[in-house]
Amino acid sequence: MGLIVVSAAADVRRVLDGLRRRGQRIGFVPTMGNLHAGHLRLVQEARRHADAVAVSIYVNPLQFGRNEDFDAYPRTPEQDRQALEALGVELLFLPGEREIYPRGLEATTRVEVPGVGEILCGAFRPGHFRGVATVVARLFHLVQPDVALFGKKDYQQLLIIRLMVADLGLPVEIVDVETVREPDGLALSSRNRYLSAEERLRAPRLYAALRAARQRLLAGGGVEATEAAALQELSAAGLRPDYVGVRRQHDLGAPQAGDRRLVILAAAWLGRTRLIDNLEIELPVN
Ligand code: PAF
Repeated sequence: MGLIVVSAAADVRRVLDGLRRRGQRIGFVPTMGNLHAGHLRLVQEARRHADAVAVSIYVNPLQFGRNEDFDAYPRTPEQDRQALEALGVELLFLPGEREIYPRGLEATTRVEVPGVGEILCGAFRPGHFRGVATVVARLFHLVQPDVALFGKKDYQQLLIIRLMVADLGLPVEIVDVETVREPDGLALSSRNRYLSAEERLRAPRLYAALRAARQRLLAGGGVEATEAAALQELSAAGLRPDYVGVRRQHDLGAPQAGDRRLVILAAAWLGRTRLIDNLEIELPVN
């Protein structure tokens, strides 16, 4: 079966119901397109968890703030289609706005995960995670996958989706996939293409600061001192950090005594580009 490209929800259902009737398990990778090796890793991983793979491409206006890059967000539909075809993907869903927001962007029901959706990136991008949770809930409803895959690069997004799935009792398994990096450590992102040549040379300093923070924590450095040092390193490298946070992996709460499974998350601006990254750490038992 070659790649089937559809835009209507009814066609998604028709194609996937046919596959399900043949006993196939459906894997789903929601994306905003401009696919890079990180997305393709998600698709390859989907194949390991499912018999048929569906990918959606939808640049979701609801998750962009007023002054953010919705209009400029890179759109490369033909290149994306070819990459997915080469990987043997069964279905590409390219919904229009009415498929996702039937009563219009402003009026349609939204999904919100309070608390964890309002900290870290959520504090700097109000409404962003409401937009993400809403579109993912809607896509899950339309595609009805058995398993869906998300990258750990968007660590907070991944947790929010897990919480949403648990809260709403959605019958979908969430699988996380490791971040894919350039050889110099920069996490792959569609937004990397906004970087000038000079900024691109400095961009790996974000991951370098996370690695240094991990070393500091492993050497017994305190959380606040580690965050402060990383902020300082990022500023010295010419980045403008929004935040650096050392948090617990399971709920992104502040670490308490005895918490060992932590994650260091950071967001920083390089010129007009906002980069995010994170690094997990497991502290040794004392
Ligand atoms: O990670 C992304 O690309 C988006 O946030 C997602 C999950 C496709 C929702 O629009």
